[in-house]
Amino acid sequence: MVGPWLKALSSSALASKSVNFADIVRSRRMSRSFSDQAVDPAVITSCIELATRAPSAGKSQGWHVLILENESTQRYWDVALTPERREGFAFPLLLKAPVIVISMCDPTAYLERYSEPDKKATGLGESLEKWPAPYWTIDASFATMTFLLALQDVKLGALFFAHSNEAGLRQEFNIPDHIEILGTIAIGHEAAGSNPQGRSAKRIRRSVESVIHQKNW
Ligand SMILES: Cc1cc2nc3c(=O)[nH]c(=O)nc-3n(C[C@H](O)[C@H](O)[C@H](O)COP(=O)(O)O)c2cc1C
Repeated sequence: MVGPWLKALSSSALASKSVNFADIVRSRRMSRSFSDQAVDPAVITSCIELATRAPSAGKSQGWHVLILENESTQRYWDVALTPERREGFAFPLLLKAPVIVISMCDPTAYLERYSEPDKKATGLGESLEKWPAPYWTIDASFATMTFLLALQDVKLGALFFAHSNEAGLRQEFNIPDHIEILGTIAIGHEAAGSNPQGRSAKRIRRSVESVIHQKNW
C-alpha cells in the first residue's frame, strides 16, 4: 500500500528554488528533533526521484525504500525502540518525525544484471561472494546520500540512523530475507530551538590534506 506516495509529482514539489550546491552540502546536518508540521508526500516522492539519479553499477538499480507516514511511523518506533530504550532516550522529538523511510537494497538485482550478455564475462553474476565490494550497498548509499541532499534542498530535516531490532522490522514490514537494510531516515521539519547533537558531533572534521594522497598512499 503506497497510497498518496505514488501520487503524480506536484509541480510545486519539483519547483524548489535550488540554492548553491556547496551551500546545501555545507549546511546539511543530521536533525534529531522534529516539529508537528506536516510534510507534503509529493515532496518526499520528488526527493526520492532525484535520488534514483545516483550512479549504479551496471545500472542495476537495486535501491528500495519503504515509506511510513504519520500514524504508521508508530509501527516503526514500537518495533525499533522498545519501552526500556525509550525511557531516557536522548532525542525524544525524533519520534515526532512525520515520515520514516527505510533504505534498503536488493543484491539479487546485481546477480541478474551481471548475468546479462554484456556483463557475463565478469563472472559476477555467479554469486555474491565473487564481488570485490558490495556494489548493492555502494549504490544504495549513493542514492541515500542524494536523497539526504535533496531533502536539505527543500529545507526538510533528516536523520540517517542505524536501525535496531532488524528481525522485528523484517517481520513487521514483510521485508524479504534477501533484501538488505541500510538504515532508517527520519524526516520532518526541524523543531524550533536547538537541534540536539549526536555523540560524535564534537569530533574534528578531517582536513582535506589528510584525505588526499598524491602519487602514492
Ligand atoms: C552509517 C551511519 C549510521 C549512523 N547512525 C546514527 C545513529 O544511530 N544515531 C545517530 O544519532 N546518528 C547516526 N548517524 C549520524 C552521524 O552521527 C552523523 O552523520 C555524523 O556525526 C556527522 O554529523 P552530520 O551528519 O550532522 O554532519 C549515522 C550516520 C551514518 C552515515
